Amino acid sequence: MSKPTDQQLPLRVVQITDCHLGKVAGSRLLNLDTDQSLAAVIELVRAQQPRIDVLLATGDLSDQGSTAAYRRFLSATRDLAEHTRWLPGNHDDPTVMRAALGADSRMQRNLVLGNWQIVMLDSSARGEVGGYLAAEELDALKLCLDAHPEHFVLICLHHQVEPVGCAWLDRQQVANSEQLWDVIKNYPQVRSVVSGHVHQRFDDLRHDVRVITSPSTCVQFAPNSDDFKVDNEMPGYRWFELHANGRICTGVERVSGFDYEIDLTATGY
Ligand SMILES: [Fe+2]
Repeated sequence: MSKPTDQQLPLRVVQITDCHLGKVAGSRLLNLDTDQSLAAVIELVRAQQPRIDVLLATGDLSDQGSTAAYRRFLSATRDLAEHTRWLPGNHDDPTVMRAALGADSRMQRNLVLGNWQIVMLDSSARGEVGGYLAAEELDALKLCLDAHPEHFVLICLHHQVEPVGCAWLDRQQVANSEQLWDVIKNYPQVRSVVSGHVHQRFDDLRHDVRVITSPSTCVQFAPNSDDFKVDNEMPGYRWFELHANGRICTGVERVSGFDYEIDLTATGY
């Protein structure tokens, strides 16, 4: 069993999610150029975050699982952080993602840094919009948690594990999330579960575990809507400070002055 190191400073973590980059640069989602909005968010990250220990990219990095989209995402984020981890969403193709990265460490299962372990899970199910955690993912989580029992833990996956209050999105949450909670309840070192997919901020507590979701770098979805609804909030990202004593500080930042040409009347995407 490994002992945590004597972490001095909080770990600075940035989450970027749901970029939906198309096969070709400049592709649009609901009329929004998703490369352009990602670039605006990254510019904001660079301006606000002088030191990033970990960059977390939590899925739907591409819109159609294309190699070209992953290469563009890689080059846009390559030097942002000391460490980077990616995981797939329902719009991604994990095999293509891995191939695009080659020998790069970005799709490794976990990252152990200071007093913290970050564990990446794949909740994508081929051909499905909704999330599911296969037995291998839950087993891999247990292995990570058993391997580092004295580290605080942040679990990342694409789909949300609790309802966020939007009926249409909550039908797509991790279908077997209770199995995840059954694992988590045996490991009190787990401090937070962090997701993307819902294109909106959410922050709640379940069994003392912070359940968090974050804005997309492109189109935002309106909170508390039963049916598909686009929000006029700006693209953004989430930051975390992971403190040595297990405390988490977190917040959301959004771009401003961005020429937002989104189709707010859309009824689906
Ligand atoms: Fe998604």
